[in-house]
Amino acid sequence: MSQAPRIRIAICILTSFCFAFAPTSLSQDPPETLRQAAQHSGMLISAAVRPAQLSEPAYAATLAREFNTLEPEDALKWEVLRPDPQSFDFHQADQVIDFALRHNMKVRGHTLVWHRQNPAWLATGNFTPEQLSKILETHIKTVVGHYRGTIFAWDVANEAFDEGVRTGQLRSTIWHDQPGIAADASGSSQSDTRTASKPDRAQLVTRGSPQPYAYLAQCFRWAHDADPQALLFYNEAEAEEVNRKSDAIYAMVRDFKREGVPIDGVGLQMHLAVHSEAALPDIPSISANIARFTALGVQVHITEMDVSLPVDANGRASDADLQQQTTIYREVAQACLAHPGCTAIQTWGFTDKYSWIGSHSKHTRGAALPFDRNYQPKPAYDALRDALATAHPIARP
Ligand code: XIL
Repeated sequence: MSQAPRIRIAICILTSFCFAFAPTSLSQDPPETLRQAAQHSGMLISAAVRPAQLSEPAYAATLAREFNTLEPEDALKWEVLRPDPQSFDFHQADQVIDFALRHNMKVRGHTLVWHRQNPAWLATGNFTPEQLSKILETHIKTVVGHYRGTIFAWDVANEAFDEGVRTGQLRSTIWHDQPGIAADASGSSQSDTRTASKPDRAQLVTRGSPQPYAYLAQCFRWAHDADPQALLFYNEAEAEEVNRKSDAIYAMVRDFKREGVPIDGVGLQMHLAVHSEAALPDIPSISANIARFTALGVQVHITEMDVSLPVDANGRASDADLQQQTTIYREVAQACLAHPGCTAIQTWGFTDKYSWIGSHSKHTRGAALPFDRNYQPKPAYDALRDALATAHPIARP
């Protein structure tokens, strides 16, 4: 054999060896960021964002590098948008949304109907049910219309179901208790209360109705009128697992689908905690819950994930708790990724420097997010990125 073919054979053996055993990075670099990893799995990876922090270079750089979607944390809530009954102030929300557009990110909207963070004028205005109905319709149509084509998914209603002994029943709120809302839509069931200008609150809450969530259906219809392309979600806390609250939401979504109410998704907030008295999240139950909702033909978004830990006066958590947190982030992400209809994972903030958990827990808990206070990725970040990167790529809607 001449020298040339022997060299060719050697090169051949060497290159096939290289192809067979080279790390995939030769042909395709392993994802370095959540955003790259999410592209692999076709997921939306998102974070709640505060406009005041966007001028901080590390905040802005981390957000743009790591996430393909964002959601204003507070800037689209009534107390920010509605300084008075006549005006809409989109200033703060626009700052966040402009950032998203400049960095090629999608935008979720949160939230149109909620019992918290409403302006004082709403509660003290002594409005008649008909006036309140008009105020809500105008709000939903104006806000959704303002961001038509920009906000791709809205949490239309948030936390409408109650807790404690009333778990699974609709919460008494300024919106729920007004018979004017959806009186027309529901036809008969609520019209008996229409004539009373101010029915007793408790009486309304307990009053039986074949369509107890007619007011929510009406809100979805108003939002759909204002932007027929936007995906419309019902968002809820403590309904991650199969439990009484998620059973009630399931029944509502099933009814909405049967009746043609324009609902496209369910948001599972996923505010989780590691502490001695609390049971760890039941991952098989979360998975079964995602499965039953997506089987109804709606998407699931994980909308507000954080895993809070006990912290010392310096905001530091123990290594053991951080490890537990890492497992929870990994397993929740995997549970979502396993279902084609689970299409977004959103964390509530992204850096421990700015998280609602601190003030919410009087600073006894914290360290809940994938980045530490110095924007360094934590083990939870690696778990999230690896889950996204190694998920079997499946077509998502
Ligand atoms: C929280 C925000 O993070 C805080 O900045 C604000 O002070 C209070 O509200 N469930 C929700 C979110 O749906 O809107 C809440 O956000 C956290 C709980």
